[in-house]
Amino acid sequence: MRRTDTVEERSVRNAIILAAGEGKRMKSAIPKVLHPLLGRTLLGHVLAAAEPFLEHGTVTVVVGHGGDLVREHLAQVAPEARPVTQEERRGTGHAVRIALDANLELSGTVVVLNGDIPLLRAETLAALVHTHEHTGASATVLTAEVGDPTGLGRIVRNRGGEFSAIVEDRDATPEQRAIREINSGAYVFEAAALREMLGKLSSDNDQGEEYLTDVIGMLAAAGAPIVAHRAPDATETLGANDRAELAGLRALMRDRINGDWMRAGVAIVDPATTWIDVTVTLERDAVIEPNTHLRGATSVGEGAVVGPDTSLIDVVVGPGAAVVRTHAVSSQIGPQASVGPFAYLRPGSQLGRKAKIGTFVETKAATLGEGAKVPHLSYVGDATIGEHTNIGAASVFVNYDGVRKQRSVIGAHARTGADNMFVAPVTVGDGAYTAAGSVIIKDVPPGALGVSRAQQRNIEGWVQRKRAGTAAAEAAEAALAREQSHAGAGEVAETGPADEQ
Ligand code: UD1
Ligand code: CA
Repeated sequence: MRRTDTVEERSVRNAIILAAGEGKRMKSAIPKVLHPLLGRTLLGHVLAAAEPFLEHGTVTVVVGHGGDLVREHLAQVAPEARPVTQEERRGTGHAVRIALDANLELSGTVVVLNGDIPLLRAETLAALVHTHEHTGASATVLTAEVGDPTGLGRIVRNRGGEFSAIVEDRDATPEQRAIREINSGAYVFEAAALREMLGKLSSDNDQGEEYLTDVIGMLAAAGAPIVAHRAPDATETLGANDRAELAGLRALMRDRINGDWMRAGVAIVDPATTWIDVTVTLERDAVIEPNTHLRGATSVGEGAVVGPDTSLIDVVVGPGAAVVRTHAVSSQIGPQASVGPFAYLRPGSQLGRKAKIGTFVETKAATLGEGAKVPHLSYVGDATIGEHTNIGAASVFVNYDGVRKQRSVIGAHARTGADNMFVAPVTVGDGAYTAAGSVIIKDVPPGALGVSRAQQRNIEGWVQRKRAGTAAAEAAEAALAREQSHAGAGEVAETGPADEQ
């Protein structure tokens, strides 16, 4: 049972990821391994941990329950991985056998990972493989010492402390149940040894399944060298069986990610309410205020302040920008730009340097040049706004005629009045103004004032006549009476000294 492969063969590393289980206790239409956890699915995290080894090897993912969904996901996140279907879930040993049967040429070192251990670090897996290859073991298993081992396979050692077997919780004796060293579900095998023992597995256990873990016990019994490699951080080995446990893993992952960023120079004001996907990048001196969610391909530049109460999904935040109480998706916020409070940036919003999107403003496919501002209560959809232009409060870019969406363009250094409607497609030239309350349906040339509204006329005494006896009528009469008496006083004052100044 000694290793006989050459160095070259050993450098070919293969991984098998077991992902055919349903995860019944999740009570979900989605297979367990596809549930999300801060930027990746559970399976995505496992693939990411295995990725560094697999560039020159093979990745086989055993799929079964919800196999079509899992295949689809793999095509997106790891197209080089090869899915193999396990028609009937007959245990982890059976699953590995199916993977090996689909890879008859597979030799050398084989990493086997349960698909539901998302906190496993790439470095830990690297150390596991390194240990395996440098001890010449037939099998190396990642173990951990945990406070509550309930439900997990226990590492049983002989009197000399050497590995002897893995016993599942439900098959364990009371003494074995007291063992707190558990099997994480991450292993490295010698392909030939694994293949040989998988052929001898029985399903003579409480679940009637073929246990992968029995392969290791059988190898040990045959005198093959087995190494139990203790994980430095037991939380890395945790799995989730239901949504409450998944939330527990998510909190651990959150703490890990936040801790890494804080050590890298990012200020996280309230780590307990800050949720950052593993895919996000942050620069030093960025400040993340409480209750902030940074997701997907989001990045935050140096010294930018994000939050509180902000969600950014695939958003690039430039250095020195401020984003307060905002929900933003697939957008770019330029250096020193300012967004919110209470802003909604929809996909395709692009803010130049020092641009501003203010309070109760929604944007979509909108480009703002350097220093351009939309400070209050507006909708900017399908629009380009030139640099240093100010859009008056409560303006709407009317981009949809019921059939088509069209763009409008406002030039540079323009000043548009409050409560404008820009009916697309329309262009306002550089340096142009528009009057408050205007509906702009025709282009406004550079430097022109665009006005479009009816002349105001006042119908004197209308309220007193039509709404006689109301509080409004009484207030109006009182005001008019005051005006008259002031006018009288004014006539006197006209001759007074104040008027000579
Ligand atoms: C397994 C280990 C246990 C270990 C624990 C760590 C066995 C027998 N037991 O138990 O020692 O402490 O993981 O979390 O391996 N799967 C398949 N096909 C199957 C059965 C399972 O692909 O027929 C996949 C599952 O989708 C899952 C993984 O294998 O990703 C582990 O299966 P699971 O049923 O969760 O095993 P545990 O009972 O947790
Ligand atoms: Ca499990």
